[in-house]
Formats: sequence, structure tokens, C-alpha cells
Amino acid sequence: VDNIYVPEVFFTNNCLTGENVVKSTRLLGDLDGVFQDKDAFEQMDRDRIIYQVSSFLPVVENTPGGLFMGITLLYPGKVGQEFFMTKGHFHTNSNRAEFYWGVEGEGMLILMDEQRNVWAERMFPGSLHYIPGKVAHRVANIGYQKLVFSACWPSDAGHDYATIAAEGFARSLMDVNGVPTLL
Ligand code: F6R
Ligand code: ZN
Repeated sequence: VDNIYVPEVFFTNNCLTGENVVKSTRLLGDLDGVFQDKDAFEQMDRDRIIYQVSSFLPVVENTPGGLFMGITLLYPGKVGQEFFMTKGHFHTNSNRAEFYWGVEGEGMLILMDEQRNVWAERMFPGSLHYIPGKVAHRVANIGYQKLVFSACWPSDAGHDYATIAAEGFARSLMDVNGVPTLL
């Protein structure tokens, strides 16, 4: 997949080489079990690209004290009434925090603590979000255009996708008569 969003800064910073930028693509089929409306999911093209991430990893994974940064392009769309969103995760090293910031488009950052309390913050170009440790995070595109956001996290954070894959988030962000609503 060649159409991944890579901002100009990735090429103007001379510490970037081909080897330390890692790109990944998530298709709808990779998000099986994530959305509430199973019938709507089954009727959609599993090969549709939902989001792409370009990560800049200047140090080896798990290095203490280093930082990673990434930029995510999340396409607009819905499965039933639920907005396209990222898988979401806790960090493996659970107390590791993260910054997200909005670059382009309209989104919602959905957060869940270990007691399964869920809340959300609106993302827009220039919005800044501090995600404390022990808080799972996922992003939904609530607009009609692509959503682009960036992230910065510790190189020893790690990603725990299994907990969310098994238990999900306690609330889902649905389009209720045109209003994004956590249900
Ligand atoms: C890194 C981070 C982001 C996400 C990216 C894709 O800790 O939170 O770079 O990895 O937005 O979302 P996930 O990883 O949940 O598929
Ligand atoms: Zn994270």
C-alpha cells in the first residue's frame, strides 16, 4: 500500500532513514470483532483500508528512556452506526503515558481506565491529548474526511491489544441522528 500519509517532516529531518520508519495498514478484516453490528460488518468489503500508521522508531523497541512517534490516517466511514476506529490498546508497561494530537479532520479519542470507565475527547487540528498510564485509548473518525493524528509514546511502553480484543471497551461511539454518542 503506497498511499500512506507521511508528512513532510519525515523527510526533512535528517535522523530519519528508511529503516526506522515502519508503516502498517489495518484493513476492515483486521478489525473483526471490534464493531457492535456484526451483520453490517459481514456485508462490507474486508479488504477496505480503515487506517494506516507510519511510526518513527529512532531506538530499539523496549529501550528505556527513548521516545517513538507515529502518525495515523483513519478513513471516514461506519459499520452500521458505529464510526470507523482504531483497535485500541493499553500499554504493556501499563503505567506508560502518551500524547496524541490532532492534525487534520474531526475525531474522538475514546479512553477507558482499568475500572472500565469510558470517556471521550474531541480531536481537531491542533487539539492536544494527554493519555495517562493505565488508560486504554482508541480513536474514531466522526467526520466525512480523513482524520490524521499524531502520537508520541515511550519506547518501552509496548502494546497490549489482547485485553481490548477479549473485553472490548465498555462503551461504543455511535452516530445517533447525526450526533456522535457514547453508548
Ligand atoms: C502508540 C499509539 C498509536 C496507535 C495508532 C493505531 O502507542 O497509541 O500510534 O498505535 O494510532 O492504533 P492501534 O495501535 O490501537 O491500532
Ligand atoms: Zn498507545
